[in-house]
Amino acid sequence: MNDLKEYMLRVSELIDNTLEDLLPAGGVYPESIHKLMRYTTFAGGKRIRPCLLLAANEACGDTFGNQNAACAGAAIEMLHTFSLIHDDLPCMDDDDFRRGKPTAHKAFNEALAVLGGDALCIHAFEILAKTNRIDIIQEISQALGTGGMIGGQVVDIESEGKNVDKSTVEYIHNNKTAALIRASVTTGALLANASPDDIKKLSSYGNHIGLAFQVVDDILDEESTTETLGKDAGSDRAKGKATFPAVYGIEESKKYAKELIDKAHADIGFLGNKGKILYELADYIRVRVS
Ligand code: IPE
Ligand code: IPE
Ligand code: MG
Ligand code: MG
Ligand code: MG
Repeated sequence: MNDLKEYMLRVSELIDNTLEDLLPAGGVYPESIHKLMRYTTFAGGKRIRPCLLLAANEACGDTFGNQNAACAGAAIEMLHTFSLIHDDLPCMDDDDFRRGKPTAHKAFNEALAVLGGDALCIHAFEILAKTNRIDIIQEISQALGTGGMIGGQVVDIESEGKNVDKSTVEYIHNNKTAALIRASVTTGALLANASPDDIKKLSSYGNHIGLAFQVVDDILDEESTTETLGKDAGSDRAKGKATFPAVYGIEESKKYAKELIDKAHADIGFLGNKGKILYELADYIRVRVS
């Protein structure tokens, strides 16, 4: 996976530089919210969603890191960061650590964390609008709304402390996490003007790795430490969250993640060697430690 490691570093550098240019400076009035937006965005995320966007964009024929793809990747990272700030709030998962640092509401305050999340979301759509691509704005909006991330978060919160069935936990994970991961892949492909048939296959790849991503996140919450994860380990069990380990057990969950990654690999077989980074990203999602 040496190629992948290098690719992820290149993406992180490009996305950090783009975010640096696009986010209001910390010294701009009102300073507090701009400082919070930067604090969480630059705390050290893996940048996996921009990585998927850029890799899909390149696999479909565009040049690495072209302006529209870099801006869309930065916007998706802002949207993801918005979802994390709100996910950690006392009224949601009530967590204290994120990306190796105190969560936004701990480092600043709750009102500012709500507003900072809102601001990242709105700012991201302003940036997406500059690409003049209504299709990607639709794609990303659908992935975030009540038919996507927000819908998944609603059922996640409403399922706390309950015995849920397999279809409910699949609904939660497909929506709260897989939807935005899928949209990261399809946005890259749409920007490269890929054919509807190729976008369909890439969308299926995105769904499979997206669901695997959350299954592995649940496993890591059970098996890893706060230090390694940079966020509160053991938090799901403490809150009685509807997770894959809770419903299927750890071993079955690991087997399921492997099956999903195998399916994702099959989805992108049509790309041949052009799909190498996407292929390796799917493996990485399963074996990652944080
Ligand atoms: C965490 O996402 C939230 C989930 C959807 C599980 P990541 O694991 O991609 O978090 P960062 O961006 O690297 O911090
Ligand atoms: C969150 O899922 C998914 C989001 C939409 C942010 P989790 O609640 O499991 O994410 P972590 O473990 O806090 O990162
Ligand atoms: Mg949550
Ligand atoms: Mg959480
Ligand atoms: Mg989690």
